[in-house]
Amino acid sequence: MKAIALKENGGIENLVLLEVEKPKIQPAEVLVRVKAISINPVDAFARQNKQTVQAILKPKDEKEVIILGWDISGIVEEVGADVIEYKKGDDVFGMVNFVGQGKAYAEFVAAPADQLALKPKNISYEEAAGATLAALTAWQALVNICKMKKGDKVLIHAAAGGVGHYAVQIAKSFGAYVIGTASSSNKDFVSQLGADEFLDYTSEKFEDKVKDADIVLEAIAGNDHLLRSLEAVKKGGKVVSLKSSPEGITADKIKEKGLFFQRMMVKSNGEDMKQIAKMMEEGKIHSHISKKYDFKDLPKAHKQIETGRTRGKIVVVLQ
Ligand SMILES: NC(=O)c1ccc[n+]([C@@H]2O[C@H](COP(=O)([O-])OP(=O)(O)OC[C@H]3O[C@@H](n4cnc5c(N)ncnc54)[C@H](OP(=O)(O)O)[C@@H]3O)[C@@H](O)[C@H]2O)c1
Repeated sequence: MKAIALKENGGIENLVLLEVEKPKIQPAEVLVRVKAISINPVDAFARQNKQTVQAILKPKDEKEVIILGWDISGIVEEVGADVIEYKKGDDVFGMVNFVGQGKAYAEFVAAPADQLALKPKNISYEEAAGATLAALTAWQALVNICKMKKGDKVLIHAAAGGVGHYAVQIAKSFGAYVIGTASSSNKDFVSQLGADEFLDYTSEKFEDKVKDADIVLEAIAGNDHLLRSLEAVKKGGKVVSLKSSPEGITADKIKEKGLFFQRMMVKSNGEDMKQIAKMMEEGKIHSHISKKYDFKDLPKAHKQIETGRTRGKIVVVLQ
């Protein structure tokens, strides 16, 4: 089968198209013929940084062929002996083995059955592939960790990005009051997703406008930004961070305001995927796919994601 391997850490020229053996499945896995792959910022971090590869992919040794990627949609081709939930021909989607090796940049992926969900018939493979790592992050942050409820005021940073655009929609469907941050070029986009208020980070300070959020989804790197987010949350509120752990005065502020704080790392989870599938089927959330790439052009998708300015999701499509 064709796969795109990482020759060594560095630029996109290190992503090389190879012919490799099809993966063999374990009893609890299914073999998925991949139709679409979504690309996340972590894909580019892993390409560039050996440390990220060691921390996330944990390769056995230097000789192991590294295949990046975690987010797939596709068709079940083969079913492991212990799998009862899926059969050959089912359309599925999910984030495979995160943290670990998803090996998603390939024509076939061996995926643990309990990390997948059936793809709703009313969404495309591309939309399904998009709603995996990013949608799971939004779901796990707001629903599992923060226990978001109706009426909560939720401040969502990077509301126009992969995670943010699902987070806005999930929060609205829970009946939250949503404030999203992005640059002015994304004002209409974020508003159309359902945000009640939009804040342009290039021209205003969100902490001047918001002082009483129940929940902040922190998606921007750095302790300075995190400290500003702590200003925007009310006493006893909740902050979940995708990027930074608190240091120094930021840690002090969390104690002083009696905040709940968690630095989260998304995890593969089939039950959460099924919740996302249900919301997509019911039309409560959708994937905004801003660009599609052919498999051979996957390195170009890395270039796009590392701009930090992607709207919604970008996906790679296989024939
Ligand atoms: N810990 C975890 O488990 C986890 C999981 C997923 C993602 N992450 C991290 O979370 C971050 C967001 O992920 P993502 O997939 O949503 O990334 P993404 O799709 O690349 O996000 C791009 C969006 O960020 C917006 N943005 C950039 N700078 C901003 C700022 N200062 N304030 C507000 N919005 C800003 C951009 O809007 P404009 O173009 O309008 O600027 C753009 O739409 C990434 O750093 C990612 O690595 C962590």
